[in-house]
Amino acid sequence: MKPKSSTLIVGLTWGDEAKGKIVDILARDHDCVVRYNGGNNAGHTVAFGGETYKLHLVPSGLFHENITCVIGGGVVVDPKVLLEEITKNEPKALHLRQRLLVSSRAHTIWPWHSKLEALSEKHQGKGKIGTTLRGIGPAYADKANRVTAIRMGEFLRPEHLEKKVQRIVEQKNQVFEKVFGEPGLDAAAIWREYAAYGEALRPMIADTTAYLLNAIDDGRRLLFEGAQGTLLDIDHGTYPYVTSSNASACGAWTGTGVPARALGQILGVVKAYTTRVGEGPFPTELKDALGDQIREQGHEYGTTTGRPRRCGWLDTFAIRYAARINSIDGIVITLLDVLGGLPELKICTGYTVGGRALTDFPDDPLALEQAQPILESLTPWKEDVSGVRDYRDLPLAARRYVKRVEEIIGAPVRIISVGPSREQTIFRQ
Ligand code: GDP
Ligand code: IMO
Ligand code: MG
Repeated sequence: MKPKSSTLIVGLTWGDEAKGKIVDILARDHDCVVRYNGGNNAGHTVAFGGETYKLHLVPSGLFHENITCVIGGGVVVDPKVLLEEITKNEPKALHLRQRLLVSSRAHTIWPWHSKLEALSEKHQGKGKIGTTLRGIGPAYADKANRVTAIRMGEFLRPEHLEKKVQRIVEQKNQVFEKVFGEPGLDAAAIWREYAAYGEALRPMIADTTAYLLNAIDDGRRLLFEGAQGTLLDIDHGTYPYVTSSNASACGAWTGTGVPARALGQILGVVKAYTTRVGEGPFPTELKDALGDQIREQGHEYGTTTGRPRRCGWLDTFAIRYAARINSIDGIVITLLDVLGGLPELKICTGYTVGGRALTDFPDDPLALEQAQPILESLTPWKEDVSGVRDYRDLPLAARRYVKRVEEIIGAPVRIISVGPSREQTIFRQ
């Protein structure tokens, strides 16, 4: 195997850590950017040249003309959304269709997935997950179910797929009509629409596992782009309030076929505070004016759904757990600028449950619901740091904050982001 020159970017919390920005800036030192999990539940923002781009499926390296963008087999692809995203970004992402590969193994999202999800979330009422309603969970459920699943590669044989779609819709309609008392879907109409998407995407469908393994042998540098975050990982996150894929670095192997040994350096991304969208426990959440202040200063509204994000103190107890799950080599702290001007500054260093301090991040959802954060106060700073480009120019209090995070997590902070655009970035050796 060739020397490791690949990088993996993974969120260490509940998503929206600004992974998109970091992938965009690191893309220039790589040859391929690879998505390995999730689907268009992701909303990754890239900003440069005074413009902002919101991406959901196409890897965030698309604006670099010499980058190959790969959607791995672990991703669930909504063909309609993918085509819309390609079309929308083509004017800026030149020759995108010639340098985008979609795994033939990737599973697909169809209208019955989003319909089922909407009905299920409504049926759950208060117990809902608060999903993005993009059909992600039902699509991964069909993947596990096998007989009702459709992979991208099946678009290469439309004559077979047409019959399969008919059969699946018949089955799904039984559920819509008999379980939910809802009208079913029109298989023929769906097929007409989706056959056209399949035709348009056909040139991009490829065996991306073979492509990536050969790329490694050829010494090409891969950049893996995680979607969501480790605490939303189906196996290692805060289940059941998680997404339906392996959002931690664990998903990169299964989601691309590239073995863990070849992944290279792993960088875990965190905001300078913590946010969460949707339902589920969030021990450091600030449900007060301070939480509102962080939301406004950080423009914390969902990239995909526009929902206000729940905001709270940096949870280093949860992040330390995520850092260990991912075996990170370094940390990226983003949105550090947002903390400037807060009246107080705290970080969470542990949890108590029933008055007892925990030694490990809880595996039990009930314990996590009950967890009280142990908070440590740090000195806030008033300065606007969005113009800082050299670590030494950060206010002392901000440098102390960064140092404290390094101490607790046990990994060096390699990159600090102080604003949405490419230039607003501090690199450290
Ligand atoms: P992702 O899902 O992890 O890619 O993150 P999102 O794009 O959903 O959310 C991050 C948001 O923060 C986007 O609106 C970015 O433009 C913005 N952003 C990224 N880095 C910074 C930063 O350092 N400071 C500020 N103020 N905003 C940032
Ligand atoms: P990026 O890649 C933040 C959350 C949803 C919900 C839960 C399950 O932009 O960081 P799903 O639709 O996946 O079944 O919803 O996961 N969620 C995200 N939260 N960022 C994301 O992606 C998310 N993708 C899903 O809000 O709580
Ligand atoms: Mg996002």
